[in-house]
Amino acid sequence: MSATIHGSGSRAKRVFDLAAFLASSTAGVNKALDGFLPAGTARPATIHRAMRYSLFAGGKRIRPALCLAAAAACGGPEADAMPLACAMECVHTYSLVHDDLPGMDDDDYRRGKLTNHKVFGEGIAVLAGDALLTQAFEIAAQCKGWQRYRHQRIILELARAAGSLQLIAGQVADLEGEGKKISASQLRYIHERKTSALLCCSVRLGGMSANCTAAQLEALTDFGYHVGLAFQVIDDILDVTQTSEKLGKTAGKDTKAQKATYPSIIGLEKSQRIARQLTERAFDALRIFRGRAPALEALAEHLLKRDN
Ligand code: IPE
Ligand code: IPE
Ligand code: MG
Ligand code: MG
Ligand code: MG
Repeated sequence: MSATIHGSGSRAKRVFDLAAFLASSTAGVNKALDGFLPAGTARPATIHRAMRYSLFAGGKRIRPALCLAAAAACGGPEADAMPLACAMECVHTYSLVHDDLPGMDDDDYRRGKLTNHKVFGEGIAVLAGDALLTQAFEIAAQCKGWQRYRHQRIILELARAAGSLQLIAGQVADLEGEGKKISASQLRYIHERKTSALLCCSVRLGGMSANCTAAQLEALTDFGYHVGLAFQVIDDILDVTQTSEKLGKTAGKDTKAQKATYPSIIGLEKSQRIARQLTERAFDALRIFRGRAPALEALAEHLLKRDN
């Protein structure tokens, strides 16, 4: 997997080895997560097995990759960004465990395996989600802290992205929108919060771990916002166009649950066009890096073209 870079500055096309970047970031993140989490045997073993079950079920590790790529764009060492990359994956995995519960999307498969509540029961799945969210803050608190971004600022970022005005707000609106006729702007509200907030937070925290400037942070925010929106439009499209095997989760669930999605309100073709436009906006946001954010550029392109 390699991507042609849409670098500004010199228009010369370079090639970035995204497959190698993802393989290395995923391996690093998995190792760090394993170190941060209590052992599966730690008492009470059930909760630690449940947390590890979903965390190591084989997710794409996109949020940590975005975090590490943003740190690299701002010249920061990977080791400094790693706790924040891991914290983002814990928040994300918690959101999936809860998203799959019978009271929410009621899904049986996730990451190619049975969902947490199918294996451990609903009570433990709720608690495993709670514990992963809490674990995220414990890990983030162990970051180094930077001159421009103290620990308090880092924790505030994470809390706001995961809180009732962002991720949770999006999930609430998503549930309340089931079976209703939703406008494009209401759908945008949902996507900004349930998905874009965490992707945006991932790149912001990556930048902060490199003690980035205010201008770099603004660019990363703009990038993360648009990549995050494109990500959910594509997720909605894949629900219609891909098989359950490919997705590792049950395809066609959005239609069945009468979810408000881009394909359902504006159709597949127009949804594809919007995802492409959002990705172009994300590329534009990277101009300030003058071609020195190849991993971010390649990730944005890859996320648009992904098939799972
Ligand atoms: C799924 O996210 C939930 C959405 C926000 C659409 P991912 O597609 O990143 O899921 P994993 O982490 O690879 O399982
Ligand atoms: C993803 O929404 C948002 C969160 C999990 C927070 P979806 O409900 O569309 O995600 P999938 O399709 O189940 O992965
Ligand atoms: Mg959902
Ligand atoms: Mg869901
Ligand atoms: Mg979905």
